[in-house]
Amino acid sequence: MPEAPFGVLAVYPTAQALLDAIPGIKARGFSNLEAYTPFPVHGLEEALGLKKSRLGTLVFIMAALGAVSAFLFEWWTSVVDYPLVIGGKPLNSWQAFVPVMFEVTVLFATFTAGLAMLFLFNKLPFFGSPILGSKAIRRTTKDRFGLLIMPVEGVLDVEAASAALLETGGSEVEVLAAPDSTPPGLGWWFKTLSGITAACVVTGFGTAWAIKIYPTIPPMVHMEVQPRLDAQKADSFFADGHGMQLPPVGTVARGYMPLLAKSPEEAGKELINPLPVTPAVLQKGRDLFNYHCAVCHDRLGTGKPWLTSAYTAKPANLQASTYRKVPDGYIYYVISEGKGAMPSYAADLSANDRWAIVDYVRALQRSQHAKPEDVQ
Ligand code: HEC
Repeated sequence: MPEAPFGVLAVYPTAQALLDAIPGIKARGFSNLEAYTPFPVHGLEEALGLKKSRLGTLVFIMAALGAVSAFLFEWWTSVVDYPLVIGGKPLNSWQAFVPVMFEVTVLFATFTAGLAMLFLFNKLPFFGSPILGSKAIRRTTKDRFGLLIMPVEGVLDVEAASAALLETGGSEVEVLAAPDSTPPGLGWWFKTLSGITAACVVTGFGTAWAIKIYPTIPPMVHMEVQPRLDAQKADSFFADGHGMQLPPVGTVARGYMPLLAKSPEEAGKELINPLPVTPAVLQKGRDLFNYHCAVCHDRLGTGKPWLTSAYTAKPANLQASTYRKVPDGYIYYVISEGKGAMPSYAADLSANDRWAIVDYVRALQRSQHAKPEDVQ
């Protein structure tokens, strides 16, 4: 049996003539039809009985996958792999992920649409349809409406099909030979791959030449050459000629509350201990006290240093009634600013750490001067 042709093609003068012809052709037993029209014709898909393309579903699935993978990737980098607090915002600030999620969604969707269309539905590398070689193609892109009857399960009665087309008002009947369906040989692959390689090499060297060797237009030059102050350089912008300036008066670093009081007494009046007395705070205060303070003030705060007699300063006895009576802010000030031979701990201990030590000093004092109520 000779191989069935690609199909039998005829043209109709109007869109309506084409629509009217289809039922007649179907009635004659031809069901594998394809139409070629210069513009979309309403009702044609239903008349031909074409199924809705699966491309939309595929694109939707891949787009959703794109959105989810972009979110997971961003979430993982900013919460798990490289957590950086930016502007005091929570690590999982999903709002910031949206632009990238949108981009990746579009990327996945367009690539799926393009590649699935080419390779899945249009069956690349089958480049051309025999319809492109037909006489009718010139007219169907202009003012004629083509109808193609294709074989069903590889069988097509060419004469009956031609008759059906003529009887329903078609003209210029053509029989289109089946395309050469042999898969591309080694030569085709060689030519294709060497073509792609050559294109990559040429664009690669071309880009390198344009950017590195002959940079007439340096990339991103507006970031390199811009009005700005370099921290360690002289600059004429400010009167003192320094690029690096002190922050404006009154600037406070994030999370840092400057100590404005001028003396322990003033601090005692003004500052309120922000930390609640909880087991966790006391635990922390004890660890920090034993680490930083006990060497001079002893673990109980009695002021007996563990140091040799070479250490002549007299650390205060924190159990003395003076220090039991001073307000929390007073002790906080001494830890922050130091006193006499006692150094400042502002650089080693955060404000909260210092307050935790204050709470622990209070607990120490109470432990040595417990009232009967305390042990009930
Ligand atoms: C290097 C030894 C040393 C360390 C460590 C040390 N202090 Fe002192 N501390 C002193 C000395 C000495 C004084 C007495 C200073 C003075 O009166 O001139 C003092 C005084 C004090 C006073 C009384 C201040 C006043 O106004 O009379 C307090 C409260 C105090 N220290 C708390 C602490 C706390 C809390 C720590 C731990 C963060 C600590 N100190 C760590 C040596 C030390």
